[in-house]
Amino acid sequence: MAERVGVIGAGYVGLTSAACFTHLDHQVICVDNDQSKVDALDRGEITIAEPGLAELVHDGLSCRRLRFSTAPETLSDVDFVLLCLPTPKGDGGNADVRILEEVVATLPGLLKTGCVVVTKSTVPVGTGARLPELLGTPDLPVVSNPEFLREGHAVEDFLNPDRIVLGSTEENRRAAERVAALYGETDAPVWFTDPASAELAKYASNAFLALKVSYVNILAELCEHYDADIREVGRLMGLDPRIGPAFLSPGPGWGGSCLPKDTAALLRTAEHAGVDFGILRDAMKANARQQAAVTRKIRRAVTGTSDGSLKGVRIGLLGLAFKAGTGDLRDSPALAIARELARGGAILTAYDPGVDSAGTDLVQVVDDPYLVAKDATALVVLTEWPEFRELDWDRLAAAAERAIVVDARNLLDPAAVARAGFAHTGLGTTPNR
Ligand code: UGA
Repeated sequence: MAERVGVIGAGYVGLTSAACFTHLDHQVICVDNDQSKVDALDRGEITIAEPGLAELVHDGLSCRRLRFSTAPETLSDVDFVLLCLPTPKGDGGNADVRILEEVVATLPGLLKTGCVVVTKSTVPVGTGARLPELLGTPDLPVVSNPEFLREGHAVEDFLNPDRIVLGSTEENRRAAERVAALYGETDAPVWFTDPASAELAKYASNAFLALKVSYVNILAELCEHYDADIREVGRLMGLDPRIGPAFLSPGPGWGGSCLPKDTAALLRTAEHAGVDFGILRDAMKANARQQAAVTRKIRRAVTGTSDGSLKGVRIGLLGLAFKAGTGDLRDSPALAIARELARGGAILTAYDPGVDSAGTDLVQVVDDPYLVAKDATALVVLTEWPEFRELDWDRLAAAAERAIVVDARNLLDPAAVARAGFAHTGLGTTPNR
């Protein structure tokens, strides 16, 4: 059944939810307090690079099922309102819910009785239990419906979720069922639970992914000491269905706008409760060490020692984003490594298919992968864009001053780059002696 849905916040989660619910035949009004953003969206201009998102927004605008506004009053006749507001990292790693709380306090004056308030933002455990108090009325049932969208796959993940989680009190169970119905027919498990479990499941999932990647990054280091190959070890671990093959690739560390923030917030939540979740602290420390380890590896490949000087050394970076499929530089380990290399005196050029070319103090971003090799002493793969595998390595070798490649994503075929004359170093694939 087509419903009237309001979305507050036209960021990554809000816009994806608005566009996808429009696609699922609902009538959606998306409210954001940024006038220029709303104007741009009204014109169909979308700055978030998510495959399929622009098409869904355009379709929604042209069939008039999707509207954007800065006026909260436009929410007066919606049956559901989705809170898609930022919860940035606040003091001491806690998620900062001030924006969300301010908006929630205004809702009783805006919404009609019975409108379901749906929390999509990642909020600290216990927020769902506090919202009714903030709303000050039992007439607006609250349901927690955390999102599990990966950047670069947000539309795909929204329309083909692997689970739909709905947290509510027993009294609001009917409201939770109505939220579930918004998603239409789905093969995914639709899970009704209490608000705290829904909220915790979100943090627990992201922090577990962070743990998994830190685990494999440390294993990769160990492989180098025992002549083992992390690609083999990961493959063999992944054959156990209890472990699964995903998130077992070593890299420069986990980054982005979610894993670092949510892992730190879960640690804080545990500390508040007096629960020792030191394994999360270890994973965070290991993640910082991983960036330093990759930087040392690059130094060693270029200078022969892990503390050799990089002064005036030209290094070409393939990738800057925190992962492939996005141009997002937030908390990107690649950027942190670039910063370290620049601090050591290296002259950096970078190419990333998701990042616009521009010059910064740190690194010259170019729009052609072959330009990064020009007079370079070394090339470093920092983001796992599949197209880097298809590069013409003979051409790169011809442009470079020295043929050295450090593959911090184990993306390349070592034999192919070796054929072009490159000295190749991966992570956990070559002995560290
Ligand atoms: C993450 C979660 O995967 C989503 O389920 C969640 O909805 C989202 O956060 C969110 O909370 O909004 P995302 O931030 O897009 O999604 O990033 P991931 O795909 O999880 O990657 C995280 C980091 O781990 C990246 O830096 C990536 O390069 C790294 N990674 C991942 C590895 O180094 N190795 C791997 O094998 C996998």
